[in-house]
Amino acid sequence: MEVVVGTTPGDAARRAAEAVLAGLPTDGDRDPVLGLATGSSPLGLYRELGRAVAEGRVDFSRTHGIALDEYVGLPPGHPEGYRQVLLREVCGVIGLAPERLAVPDGSATDLPSLVAAARAYEERIRQLGGVDVQILGIGANGHLGFNEPGSALTSRTRVKRLSERTRRDNARFFTGLDDVPTHCVTQGLGTILAARRLVLVATGDAKAEAVAAALEGPLSASVPASVLQWHPDTVVCLDEAAASALRNRQYYDDAAAGLPER
Ligand code: F6R
Repeated sequence: MEVVVGTTPGDAARRAAEAVLAGLPTDGDRDPVLGLATGSSPLGLYRELGRAVAEGRVDFSRTHGIALDEYVGLPPGHPEGYRQVLLREVCGVIGLAPERLAVPDGSATDLPSLVAAARAYEERIRQLGGVDVQILGIGANGHLGFNEPGSALTSRTRVKRLSERTRRDNARFFTGLDDVPTHCVTQGLGTILAARRLVLVATGDAKAEAVAAALEGPLSASVPASVLQWHPDTVVCLDEAAASALRNRQYYDDAAAGLPER
């Protein structure tokens, strides 16, 4: 696990963008697959990727985008549904073709249809050859995707109940708490772990405790993001505030400095 601490949220976003670009395949044998998180944390990273496109350093026109999760029960086209959010905040910004964006289908209202939609989503990821780089944020309660505390560490895409903490945190995107859906379809922790590289971005004091528990606490379903410790290629990009509760900070900085010059 590589832990990179930027001086500012913008610096963390720049480092995260470099980690994403370094993880995408360049051989041209198959189309790259980029896993996309929603929420505030990766917005700077998406802007940095957009800048790399403008500078001619990368082209996402042949890349497939795979969303982490979707709310259950929002009407199609709802502006806070994650398909709409990703069309707005990612496709337009990095030049990803809307027809290459896959989002779990949370539109059904009965469980069997949602279970079928979750299975179909796993199948879609398999058909694409798996995710090359999965971009992630972390919930203040340690959730990853919408895998709330208590999620099985090997879980696959499925319907989950959102915790009240998550619903309160996300109420800022809706007119009020009552409008926040109670359920979602989310990639499981096992699905996330199957991506070839994970890049997590976290900024601000509100994430400090969750980041420390995920990176330095025990691997536990109580802190779903602790599965990052299990993955062989994880890059965690933080700003100073989000890194403030880490105990091994000096080690991460030393490791990030690389081999000594001779
Ligand atoms: C988003 C997602 C969530 C968020 C997390 C942090 O697709 O699955 O895990 O990454 O809730 O949200 P922000 O970045 O808004 O604090």
